[in-house]
Amino acid sequence: MSAIPAQSLAKPLLLTNIGQLLTIKDVSGRNDPRRGRELQELGILQNAAVFCRDGKIAAVGSEVEVVARATQEIGAEPRVFDCRRGTVLPGFVDSHTHPVFVSPRLVDFEQRIQGHTYEEIAKFGGGIRSSIEGVRNASEEDLSTSVLRAFEDMERSGTTTVEAKSGYGLSTDSEIKSLRAIREVAQQWPGTVISTFLGAHVVPPEFRQRADAYVDLVCDQMIPKVAREKLADFVDVFCERGAFTITQTERIFDAAHKARMGTRAHVCQFTPQDLSKLARFEPASYDHLDCLTDKDLQALPQQRTIATLLPGASYFLAHSYPIARRLIDAGAAVALATDFNPGTSPTTSMPLVLSLACTQMRMTPAEAVSAATINGAHALRLARQKGSIEMGKDADLAVFDTKDYREICYWFGRETCRATVLNGHLAIH
Ligand code: NIG
Ligand code: FE
Repeated sequence: MSAIPAQSLAKPLLLTNIGQLLTIKDVSGRNDPRRGRELQELGILQNAAVFCRDGKIAAVGSEVEVVARATQEIGAEPRVFDCRRGTVLPGFVDSHTHPVFVSPRLVDFEQRIQGHTYEEIAKFGGGIRSSIEGVRNASEEDLSTSVLRAFEDMERSGTTTVEAKSGYGLSTDSEIKSLRAIREVAQQWPGTVISTFLGAHVVPPEFRQRADAYVDLVCDQMIPKVAREKLADFVDVFCERGAFTITQTERIFDAAHKARMGTRAHVCQFTPQDLSKLARFEPASYDHLDCLTDKDLQALPQQRTIATLLPGASYFLAHSYPIARRLIDAGAAVALATDFNPGTSPTTSMPLVLSLACTQMRMTPAEAVSAATINGAHALRLARQKGSIEMGKDADLAVFDTKDYREICYWFGRETCRATVLNGHLAIH
C-alpha cells in the first residue's frame, strides 16, 4: 500500500483572503529534510491565495495573481473559500500514530497517577498487553470504525496525512486484520494514509519467555504475508527494555529489507540504546529519543534518518522530554508527531503537540511548524508530494482562525483550525 489517494477527484477550489500563508517552500532546491536554521524558514506570503485543481496545488502566490490564473485556466467557476484573513499552512503530517485499538486504558492511567511507572505497569500485565484482547476479539469493521473516528478527529485539528501502525493484535491474523482495517479507512477518508506493520510492539503472553520464537514468527510469517498483501510500507519495532533488543530489531529489519519494506523504530524512550547497530538499515525515522546517548546525538546529523519527537507521550507519562534543542542545534532533522495511542499519548491534536514542543522542548513556533509538516513528510518519504505549499504538490492545507501562525502554538487546548483541504477536498469544521 502506498499513499492511497482519495477516491474521487476534488472540484477546483480557490482559497482567498489569506492573511498569512506559510508555504514552507524549499529554497535550496534539494528537497532535503530541514535542519538547523532551515527549520525557521517558513516562506511566508501575505494577502495570498491558493488554487487547487485535480487534488494538486495549481497556483500559489498573491491573491491578484492567483485569482487571475484560476479564472484563466478553467471555464467553470471554482468553489471559493474565504479564509477571512486567517493563517494557512500545509496540512500537518502526523508521521507516528497507533489508531487500531478498541478501548482507552483507564486503569493504567489511574495507576500512574498513584505513582507507578509505565514500565512497572507493563510488567504486571497492563500496558500494551492489556490492549491485545480487545483487538483480537474485534471485527475488522469495529476496528475500521475506531480508525476512522481517529482520522476525522485529526482532520479537525489540521492533519491531512497520517502514518498508522498495527501493533495491538500481535498474532498473524490480528495484525493482518488491523492492517486491513487501516486500508479500508484509507480508501474512504480523503486524506493520505501510510501504513506501518508493528508486529514487534511487545512479546504477546503466549510467547512469554520465548521472545526469540515470537521474533521468528514476525520475520518468517508475518512480514512476508504483510508484504504479499501489500498491507504496509514500513516495518516498525519497539526497541526497548521489556520489548525487543537491538539484536532482535536487526533481525526484524533484515526481514523487512528482504520483503522490500522500509524500516522505522521506537528507540530510546526509557533506556539508551546503541543506534549505530541500526544505521546500516537507514531507517526512515527513529522515534521518541527521550534518552539519546551523546555518541548517537553526534551521529544523527550525518544520517538521512529523521528524529521524530513525541512530546505528547512525555506529557502523558510525566516523563522527561527529548532534547530537541540539542538535536536541532547539532543539525539533526527533527519531526513532530502525536504518537496517538491508548497507553502513552491519547491525543489526535497536532496543535497541542506543537505547543508542547515550544513550551517543554524550547522549539520555536517556526521550528515546530516545519517539523510537523515538511519533516513529517520526509519521515514518511513523501516529501515530493507533501509537507509544503508548492505548485504540483498535493493540495493538503489547513486554515486557522488566527492572524499569526504563532497563535497555533500559543492557544494551547483551543482548536483554532477552521477548515482542512485533503487532496483537494474541503472540510469545514
Ligand atoms: O509509542 N512505546 C511503544 N509504543 C507506544 C505505546 C503504546 C502503548 O502503550 O499502547 C508509544 O509510546
Ligand atoms: Fe509509538
